[in-house]
Amino acid sequence: MTKEITVIGVGQMGTGIAQSALQAGYNVILIDKNQEFLDKGFARLTDNLGKAVERGKITADEKARLLGNVTLARSMDGIGKSDFVIEAVPEILDLKMDVFRNADKFCSKSAIIATNTSSILINKLATAVSDPSRFIGLHFFNPANVMKLVEVVVGTNTSQATMSSSLEFITSLGKTPVKVNDAPGFISNRILMAFINEAASDLQHGIAEKEAIDSIAKLGFNHPMGPIELADFIGLDVCKDIMDFIYLETKDGKFKPADIIVKLVQDGKLGRKSGEGFYKYK
Ligand SMILES: NC(=O)c1ccc[n+]([C@@H]2O[C@H](COP(=O)([O-])OP(=O)(O)OC[C@H]3O[C@@H](n4cnc5c(N)ncnc54)[C@H](O)[C@@H]3O)[C@@H](O)[C@H]2O)c1
Repeated sequence: MTKEITVIGVGQMGTGIAQSALQAGYNVILIDKNQEFLDKGFARLTDNLGKAVERGKITADEKARLLGNVTLARSMDGIGKSDFVIEAVPEILDLKMDVFRNADKFCSKSAIIATNTSSILINKLATAVSDPSRFIGLHFFNPANVMKLVEVVVGTNTSQATMSSSLEFITSLGKTPVKVNDAPGFISNRILMAFINEAASDLQHGIAEKEAIDSIAKLGFNHPMGPIELADFIGLDVCKDIMDFIYLETKDGKFKPADIIVKLVQDGKLGRKSGEGFYKYK
């Protein structure tokens, strides 16, 4: 049974993945590029577990014990005992390839190396590791400590054993794995990004106010969040990166980011995480 996992990149997603694994009984190594990001990630994790205590999901003692199962690191030399190494660094191909080349040097020869990429082809990322049969996409959803779905993306060389262990691991987190084949954006983000991009473009063309667009999705389609709110929640930089990548790979115009998204990202208005995106946040 898997006992220890490593999460590389302790941002929004990495923190949520780590929390799910801790609460399911795993030891977790958290790796980020510098101490400031590690400290921020650990503070977010501490805060999230504090909320779980407030909601009565875990006790204060359990929170302290779970945080004691976390190891913070800036280099990968201590990941040799991890059964899963999960990458959650920004959606930039070269950055991810570097991370995988490095992780491959330090992880065990039986470890499964997984990417949380939202869009990049698994077959492309798998070329960075020595054994692509142990490479897979584990696409968690945001917030990863809450959302049940994990899109399990199988590359051409992913082995049956890697897939079975991954399905077992995801199930052990109390989540539901759904298997899909490799394609830019997989299933979830091909549907979602086309939807968000259309909503942004409708706003840009003055067809409706952002609140109206969100209300239509919430009241008319029964979505818990409208597409504009959701884009802010995901992060407009993340959305743009995903759209850019799917567009580059497919040349399908519906994925070319609307000018309004490009402009907000250029202005540093990245959504909730930066305090402003389409909407303003406190
Ligand atoms: N935000 C979402 O809703 C969402 C949902 C599903 C998947 N994803 C995917 O998850 C990945 C991470 O997204 P996020 O929103 O958590 O990003 P984020 O910006 O919140 O976090 C990324 C983290 O990676 C760290 N990092 C950067 N370079 C690094 C390196 N070389 N080594 C170690 N750490 C490094 C950063 O310091 C940061 O802490 C992306 O591939 C994204 O597409 C995001």
